[in-house]
Amino acid sequence: MRVLVQQLQPQAIFESGTYCGGSTQFLWHVSGVPVYTAEKNRGFALRARRRFRENSTIHVLNADSRDVLRGLRDSGQLPTERVLFYLDAHWERDLPLREEVAIITGAWTESIIVIDDFKVPNDHGYEFDSYGHVELSMEYLGAEALASYEAFWPACPSSMESGRRRGCVVLAAPDVARQVSELPEVRRAEAPVPPGRG
Ligand SMILES: C[S@@+](CC[C@H](N)C(=O)[O-])C[C@H]1O[C@@H](n2cnc3c(N)ncnc32)[C@H](O)[C@@H]1O
Repeated sequence: MRVLVQQLQPQAIFESGTYCGGSTQFLWHVSGVPVYTAEKNRGFALRARRRFRENSTIHVLNADSRDVLRGLRDSGQLPTERVLFYLDAHWERDLPLREEVAIITGAWTESIIVIDDFKVPNDHGYEFDSYGHVELSMEYLGAEALASYEAFWPACPSSMESGRRRGCVVLAAPDVARQVSELPEVRRAEAPVPPGRG
């Protein structure tokens, strides 16, 4: 995350899934830019608001992440370029992820999306989340949600990873994809094989 922040130099960060604010604190700490974090659970949101009450640049928004994203888009509260999105509201069967990605790719440019707990193709050593029969994967996101954003995987094979082996994906808008591709920590996803040629 640090290298992505350094490379993109975002104007703001959006997070879905605040929980107790641990990742919110980290995102603010590594970037120093305003952080908008969406949490649908009232108790967690209130707790996080209390935690950040002295910090006027962390905004805890108590609503469904999809509604928060649409609201931020329509109100112009969040810049529509150079935003880093960290999507972490996967916890239950009602997965907001596909819609979150569709809203972002349809409205934000020069931005990147980071999704943890995501299935890395061809590397089964990386763990990922599943909810019922749904895996957090490119198949779940689908071409429509991805629109023109490009996908990047961790460059390090899971077998060489010393820390936690949770998969992730970075989705980059076309205007910053080259910048992201310059990072040694990621590798560009291969283009999907057109139907009939696999
Ligand atoms: C995995 S936890 C987030 C952990 C947090 N980002 C951290 O690293 O400390 C997922 C959180 O997302 C919240 N959540 C689930 N669905 C949501 C939605 N549609 N909109 C907003 N928050 C949601 C849950 O209430 C839960 O607090």
